[in-house]
Amino acid sequence: QKLQQQDARLYSTFRLPATLHEVLLCRSIDELYQAEWTQPPLLLGEGSNSIFLSDMQRPVLRFIADSVTEQYAADGILLHVEAGHNWHSLVTYAVQQGWWGIENLALIPGSVGAAPVQNIGAYGVELMDSCVYVDFFHWQSKKVQRLTQAECAFGYRDSIFKQALDGKGVIVAVGLKLQTLANPKLSYRGLDHLPADCSVQDVYQAVIAVRRSKLPDPQQLSNCGSFFKNPVIEANQFAELQRLHPDLPAYPQHNGQIKTAAAWLIEQSGFKGQRFGDIGCYDKQPLVLVNYGEGTAFELETWMKQIITTVQQRFGIQLEPEVRMLNEC
Ligand code: EPU
Repeated sequence: QKLQQQDARLYSTFRLPATLHEVLLCRSIDELYQAEWTQPPLLLGEGSNSIFLSDMQRPVLRFIADSVTEQYAADGILLHVEAGHNWHSLVTYAVQQGWWGIENLALIPGSVGAAPVQNIGAYGVELMDSCVYVDFFHWQSKKVQRLTQAECAFGYRDSIFKQALDGKGVIVAVGLKLQTLANPKLSYRGLDHLPADCSVQDVYQAVIAVRRSKLPDPQQLSNCGSFFKNPVIEANQFAELQRLHPDLPAYPQHNGQIKTAAAWLIEQSGFKGQRFGDIGCYDKQPLVLVNYGEGTAFELETWMKQIITTVQQRFGIQLEPEVRMLNEC
């Protein structure tokens, strides 16, 4: 199905004004197979991590097949989920069945197909922990390739789909392995009050409560979640900064580097709750940039640059966007 001249505000939860020249909805792999492109389309899920900074002439494609197939294994359940399925409704379904593995990822906006692209993560769990494969339809060969978890090259908010396979095709399904035996992940501060014998529903409810207390609902206040990635820096740079700023958060990584909190750097730079025009930093979590209604691409870019420059000057750390910004200008 082809839709013309679409209002971009319906396709991104950041809701900047722009026009999408052409939006294509594909419901099956067969439809992908038959589609003819003059130029490879831009892929879009539910638009909860994509911001349109300009009008788009390039066709936008949404793959909306959303079936779920269950296969029982000795040590758990294998779910084959088509990419158009809503992520949170999948989490809710899994929790209702009593299956463990993705409950910490409750309430993350967006589609299942978008989840591997940036290896969504929250409260001590990442998609890669339960993802066993991703099915990827290549534009060139018109074939579906099944990538194993290792082949997906998952990293912090990163995967092969943002790197070597960017623009080469579309994720059509994701394979997830969930467990029937209890396996609560309660290391995150907001979840550590739960007892070790809690149910999967308890974890799910606690995650939802933490998210609601910190993060704005995109339906009520336009946003795309965390705007920047948490920066990962060398241990010696961290040690130097920590001397000046003893409460700088530290999340040590396996390779010896230290991840620190972009939210902290932004708050210390004075941006929390501040705004420029209709764009600002959310007052409970400044890493989330919000559009109060009539925000523009100019305001967003100005605000973003101001944050990056100030944090760079104060801390010598370069913040990088986590959201996908789309611009044809
Ligand atoms: N902090 C402040 N001021 C604030 C809020 C936080 O200084 O107002 C500092 C605190 O030191 C806090 C730390 O930042 O301990 C971390 O904050 P939080 O736990 O809220 O998480 P985050 O690191 O800011 C990341 C993810 C979120 C995810 C949460 C929870 C990224 C870019 N973001 O945020 O993911 O929900 O952890 O696991 O990694 C998203 O990707 O869109 C997203 C919301």
